[in-house]
Amino acid sequence: MSTTTTNLKDAIINRRSIRKVKKSESITRERMNEVLKTALHAPSSFNMQSARMVVLMDAEHEKFWDIVKETLRARVPAENFAATAERLQGFRDGAGTILFFENQDTVQQMQEKAPMYKDQFPFWSHQGSAMLQYAVWMSLTAEGIGASLQHYNPIVDEEVKSVWNIPQGWSLVAQMPYGEPNEQPGERTFLPFEDVVKFY
Ligand SMILES: Cc1cc2nc3c(=O)[nH]c(=O)nc-3n(C[C@H](O)[C@H](O)[C@H](O)COP(=O)(O)O)c2cc1C
Repeated sequence: MSTTTTNLKDAIINRRSIRKVKKSESITRERMNEVLKTALHAPSSFNMQSARMVVLMDAEHEKFWDIVKETLRARVPAENFAATAERLQGFRDGAGTILFFENQDTVQQMQEKAPMYKDQFPFWSHQGSAMLQYAVWMSLTAEGIGASLQHYNPIVDEEVKSVWNIPQGWSLVAQMPYGEPNEQPGERTFLPFEDVVKFY
């Protein structure tokens, strides 16, 4: 198990995509509750709080990755499917998956309430979701839990809605499988700081 930290800088630097995770008795529902409660301090446009999360644990989590696998089997060329299946196994072996949604009913209400910003709300909704995803990812990192960010939407949306009884207005934005880290992240490169940041 990787180390836990209470230091923000360490959590930012240590957060990596961990695409192979495994189950762990110590990743309990109570611990996940704490992680998600903390992360929900992330901001949203006008504090509209359009984000929704569904946490799939244990057999439900495995069911999700089985749905992804079968959906992809029908779409990925047969000769590439082994690699796809192996990648998916790295997620399925984990403890759970967080599904991130944005409630389109909220977005629509905001558009009606503040028509001047009508065109902006769908973007702000996604930006708010990204901030929440990042806060969750960092909180997991701080707990020593590995995670990655996946996007098998929209191809699994309909089945997810029907299997887990998701309200019609919730649109799936991202999936975050998590568990005990089961791989070391690779080298990561960075653009030169001077090319990215300008001070005046
Ligand atoms: C908006 C966004 C979408 C991403 N989508 C995926 C994805 O669908 N699958 C995946 O494996 N990684 C995905 N990633 C992870 C990035 O590839 C990864 O964060 C980046 O290469 C840096 O590596 P690191 O996370 O290990 O620091 C996504 C990251 C972001 C910010």
